[in-house]
Amino acid sequence: MQFNIEDTTTLLNIMKNRRDVRGNRFLNKEVEEEKILKILQAGLTAPSVGYSQPWKFILIQDAKIKNSVFQNFEEENNKARKIFKDKTLYKDLKLEGIKEAPVNLAVLYKEPQEKILGMTSQSKMGEYSVVCAIQNMWLMARALNIGLGWVSILEENKILKLIKAPKNTKLIAYLCLGYVDEFLEVPELKSLGWEDEKTLNECLIIR
Ligand SMILES: Cc1cc2nc3c(=O)[nH]c(=O)nc-3n(C[C@H](O)[C@H](O)[C@H](O)COP(=O)(O)O)c2cc1C
Repeated sequence: MQFNIEDTTTLLNIMKNRRDVRGNRFLNKEVEEEKILKILQAGLTAPSVGYSQPWKFILIQDAKIKNSVFQNFEEENNKARKIFKDKTLYKDLKLEGIKEAPVNLAVLYKEPQEKILGMTSQSKMGEYSVVCAIQNMWLMARALNIGLGWVSILEENKILKLIKAPKNTKLIAYLCLGYVDEFLEVPELKSLGWEDEKTLNECLIIR
C-alpha cells in the first residue's frame, strides 16, 4: 500500500489534534461498542518487541469499580498536592475523568514466561511495546472524535487488585474514554502556563 501527501496531512492532523481529555469535558453519552472495538483493534496493530504482543486490556464500565479507582486517585492526588505545594496551580487542575467517562480501560503488560527476542539486553522493552499500543488507541479514538485521557496518579497494586488483573501483569495505563463537548486546540498544561512547548531545536542533538 502506498500513501499520498493527503494521507500525511490527515495523519498529522489527527496527531496534532489529539488531546488528553479530563472529566470536565466528557459527555454523558454512550460510546458505541463497534467504536470501542475499533479502538482496541488499533491497539493490537502496534509494534511489539519480538512480536510478543504483551498487552492485556480490561474494560471497566462498573460504577462500583470506577468509584473505588476514583477514591484511590483522590488519595494519590492529595499526596501529589503536597509535593507541588509551591506551584499553586496544581490544586486547581482537573487530572482525571474516571467517573465522568462512560468507558474506563486499564492497559496492562503481561510479563513473559519465556525469553523474548529483543528483550535480552533491555528489560523494559515489553512495557514500551504496550505504550505503542496505547498511542495507537489514542489516535484512533481521536479519529473517531472520541476523547481519551490517561490517568497515572494511581497506586498500581491497589488498582490491579480492584480490577482483578490477571497474574503477572503490570498497570501501564488507566484510560478514560468518551465523547466530549470540545477538543482543546492547545494542550491545557501549555495554555495554563504549567509547561512551555519545546521546539525541535531543543529536542534534537546531531552527532
Ligand atoms: C504517560 C502519561 C501519563 C499521563 N498522566 C496524566 C494524568 O495522570 N493526569 C492528566 O490529567 N493527564 C495525564 N497525561 C496527559 C498529559 O498531561 C498530556 O498528554 C500533556 O499535558 C499534553 O497534552 P495533550 O495530550 O492534550 O496534547 C499523561 C500523559 C502521558 C503520556
